[in-house]
Amino acid sequence: MTTMMKQAEIDPKAFRRALGNFATGVTIITARAPDGTTVGVTASSFNSLSMDPPLILWSSMKTARSCAVFEEATHFAVNILASDQMEMSNHFARQQEDKFAGIEFDEGIGGAPIFPGCAGRFQCEAYEKLDGGDHWIFVGRVVAFDDFGRAPLCFHQGSYAMVFNHPGTLSKPGEDVHPDADQGRMGNHAFFLMLRAVRAYQDRYYPKLETLGLNLIEARILLVLNDLSGLDIEELVVHLHTQIGEARAALSNLGDRDLVMRGDGGYVLTEEGQAKATQCWSLAEAHADETFANFSQDQVDTFTDVLRQLLKQ
Ligand SMILES: Cc1cc2nc3c(=O)[nH]c(=O)nc-3n(C[C@H](O)[C@H](O)[C@H](O)COP(=O)(O)O)c2cc1C
Repeated sequence: MTTMMKQAEIDPKAFRRALGNFATGVTIITARAPDGTTVGVTASSFNSLSMDPPLILWSSMKTARSCAVFEEATHFAVNILASDQMEMSNHFARQQEDKFAGIEFDEGIGGAPIFPGCAGRFQCEAYEKLDGGDHWIFVGRVVAFDDFGRAPLCFHQGSYAMVFNHPGTLSKPGEDVHPDADQGRMGNHAFFLMLRAVRAYQDRYYPKLETLGLNLIEARILLVLNDLSGLDIEELVVHLHTQIGEARAALSNLGDRDLVMRGDGGYVLTEEGQAKATQCWSLAEAHADETFANFSQDQVDTFTDVLRQLLKQ
């Protein structure tokens, strides 16, 4: 969906949703006031700024309770959250009397709390405060940092997310990740073999899907609605293995192309949508047939049975 608006017409909800397309990491920014009060705020506005001098930035709502402390503090710390720190993120995004009660932390430079278990941490001297509308932009000069390299927590379209490699960066059909990928413990471990097999399957499938002018989520929506007509978005998303924001964007694209419409009881395929879904099924079945062409029916049945059993465990 393309929405072009003049400034006066900007609808805050639509603006926020459009901004949500920019996936970010999640940080908790902390500082200590001269009277010893500690503050911590979940923030996704963190970004790198300069290598020389080493600067980073983030922005705080001017109305945030903690903002006055950040305005006065000589130092602040940026704690980049790891993928298993979602609870910490929610905790520091909620206003409460003492956010640090029961939370494990060390005292960093200038007394700013730094947390264990993060993906990375930057300890900064306050460098500059810039006016950014209803936010203050805080620039910090990095004086110390930790790089723990843990998988990061991400945020996209109002939901938490994690990083997975884009299939385009993975091996091309016929190639493998590494010539020795079949060797050693990983090369023979069922889990890694399953992962690699799924990726190889998808790598060969995506280009075929593009011939129908659909991305993976749009194609899945058509297939699901072909089987289960009249679902609302919450029901649909369960079958899509994706986030609600992506499902919403895909539904909007399919709506613009008159493939899907909203009926009284939920989303349904239009006549054109039915025809497209039939094409998707043919493509999916042809791809499966091609992939399993060199296996006997007995082998395929056993493989399918094993997958079903694994899902039941
Ligand atoms: C994922 C996420 C990212 C956020 N990013 C920011 C941000 O960059 N700047 C900001 O001012 N608030 C941000 N917030 C909201 C604050 O964390 C929230 O308003 C918090 O209550 C402020 O704390 P305080 O009221 O103690 O100052 C974010 C919240 C979440 C869940």
